[in-house]
Amino acid sequence: MNLTLSRRHFLKAATLAGVGSVLFPREGMSYASSQTEKTSKALAISSANGIRATEKAMQLMRDGKDALDAVIAGVNIVEDDPNDMSVGLGGLPNADGDVELDASVMHGPSHRAGAVAALRNIKNPSKVARAVMERTDHVLLVGEGALRFAKMHGFVEENLLTDESREEWVKWKESLSKEDDYLPPHSIDDLNIGERIKKALQTYGTINCLGLDLQGNISGVTTTSGLAYKIPGRVGDSPIIGAGLYVDNAVGAAGSTGRGEANLANCSSVMIVEYMRQGKSPEEACLLACRRIVEHTKEKRLLDGSGRPNFDVKFYAISRKGEHGSASIWSNGKYVVNDGGGSRLLDCAFLYERPSKK
Ligand code: GLY
Repeated sequence: MNLTLSRRHFLKAATLAGVGSVLFPREGMSYASSQTEKTSKALAISSANGIRATEKAMQLMRDGKDALDAVIAGVNIVEDDPNDMSVGLGGLPNADGDVELDASVMHGPSHRAGAVAALRNIKNPSKVARAVMERTDHVLLVGEGALRFAKMHGFVEENLLTDESREEWVKWKESLSKEDDYLPPHSIDDLNIGERIKKALQTYGTINCLGLDLQGNISGVTTTSGLAYKIPGRVGDSPIIGAGLYVDNAVGAAGSTGRGEANLANCSSVMIVEYMRQGKSPEEACLLACRRIVEHTKEKRLLDGSGRPNFDVKFYAISRKGEHGSASIWSNGKYVVNDGGGSRLLDCAFLYERPSKK
């Protein structure tokens, strides 16, 4: 295909549609949208580790910034924090001791998305994901290619493994045997395989942040170091549009944290947005996505003694009307909401009460 021609046609079509030739204004510039109406109140929500992220996002949106600028700046605080072991600098590494990061961004007004997976040595994968969205015709870059692309755009490589994360990895290495993610050869119908894997010990640290700005536009970001001590190259749900993040400016947005494999097999974020399109509230939509995962979880190694998933996932959603909600499979989950009065932790709705610890 003649790329030059196709690009010219694209720009011509964009101009005719009134979008203008600058499709992606630089950070801080506002986006016009024909689909939305201005709202009097901005909204930012996030996973429970996003108190600082939602504060920052709200501050920027109150100053009139686009929701995408706001949510990315918010999660960058957590990515930059060496003491947070769930994302960015200081994230828990893979089984070889290398930190591999996944992230996605999605911009409601343009319905464009960008993502990176298994990215090493760059502490802000969310910013690289944005660059993929704005500076390529692609949505997802992975591994070595993602790193080369990031360096081409001036991102600086650094060692992301802090002493604290390295020591945690060494502890894991030293007690390995029962905790790896490999399964022996088995029939696909065998639901009993791999029961020795100790799922309870697994950590899926992630931050999801969604924003509705004063223009009435919605954007979101999900960023993570993924499953701790994962098989190198493992990619979770966070960088997969429709799974770890989805935005439809006319409806709302959803994102996730928790066991990415369960979400990847169910594409829950796009499902949640579709439930909201059908009239469900954000909380109802998140609960329905949890319910779907429960229905689809069949392998015994993933079930508790009562046949319920022995893992958790959490979903977060906002609607274009400014409603918000969150749900998880198991109780005691929290999420952060900031609608202008400071960031506060709220309880997630849930399907099952966690058994009390004796
Ligand atoms: N939800 C994050 C992950 O599974 O990588």
